[in-house]
Amino acid sequence: MKTKLLLVLLLLVTFISCNNNKKDAYKKSESVVTELATENKETAYTSKGYKLMQQKCFICHFEKPDPARRDQMLAPPFLRVQEHYKPTYPIKDEFITAVMEIINNPSEENTLMPGAVRKFNLMPKLVYDQEELRLIAEALYDVDYGSALKMRMNQDLQMNNGEKWKLSQETMSQINVIVNDLNDFKSDDILVYNQLGKDVFNDAKVIMLDDSYEGELWEQIHNFFSDIEDNMHSLMATKSLIEAENEVAILKIKFKEFTNYFE
Ligand code: HEC
Repeated sequence: MKTKLLLVLLLLVTFISCNNNKKDAYKKSESVVTELATENKETAYTSKGYKLMQQKCFICHFEKPDPARRDQMLAPPFLRVQEHYKPTYPIKDEFITAVMEIINNPSEENTLMPGAVRKFNLMPKLVYDQEELRLIAEALYDVDYGSALKMRMNQDLQMNNGEKWKLSQETMSQINVIVNDLNDFKSDDILVYNQLGKDVFNDAKVIMLDDSYEGELWEQIHNFFSDIEDNMHSLMATKSLIEAENEVAILKIKFKEFTNYFE
């Protein structure tokens, strides 16, 4: 009886220690993997932030646009989110702060993606651990989605069977305000340029968020603005006078075209 018990104990002990060895070996290989990963340039995908992002954000967000699963989209793909946030917040710390702020408090006032708000409604206010959220925002800045999928899915701006699209009086005067702001603009101060970018974007946002526009008309309004969102965003953020001047020049041209399509 005693020997049997001893045997069982012995077996148990070897089993446990064996298991521990295995665990150690596993731990070791895991740390080798992380070490390799940190040596590797593409750390974004192996980072803790990226893993958290997979758990907490991919329920709603795809990473990249996927035309085959367009119907299943609940939120803009992260590639698009990055495209909107990086030109506005090129500095990593500012990017992280901005992303954390909008997630902690989604609002039409602060959105950089009015098109997405119109399409999907505001992102629900979810409560996240702030340290985890910081890591996620960092990963969102770091991941490189490559260039292959960056083309726009938007169609070109089109007329309404050869006619102009009819917009409300308020929208047309809003456009007028923007056109005048752009035309009257004169400054050598980059901060004043940045403010112009913010003003133009805020005025444009009112139109993009106007839910009296629906269907094809909304699509066309969206096509017009998504074409110039990058220009508005970089005007809001650029530190280069030359770039700012260029953006203003482009915006002037584009807004002049507005009245070719809308009235
Ligand atoms: C329940 C669905 C849902 C989850 C989960 C979710 N989002 Fe969103 N998110 C949305 C929707 C819908 C939008 C588009 C509307 C908007 O911009 O508010 C959005 C927009 C955004 C925007 C753009 C905000 C703007 O308007 O400028 C960012 C940034 C963002 N999400 C980041 C995240 C991150 C990071 C996570 C994970 C921590 C996450 N989201 C989880 C639904 C979700």
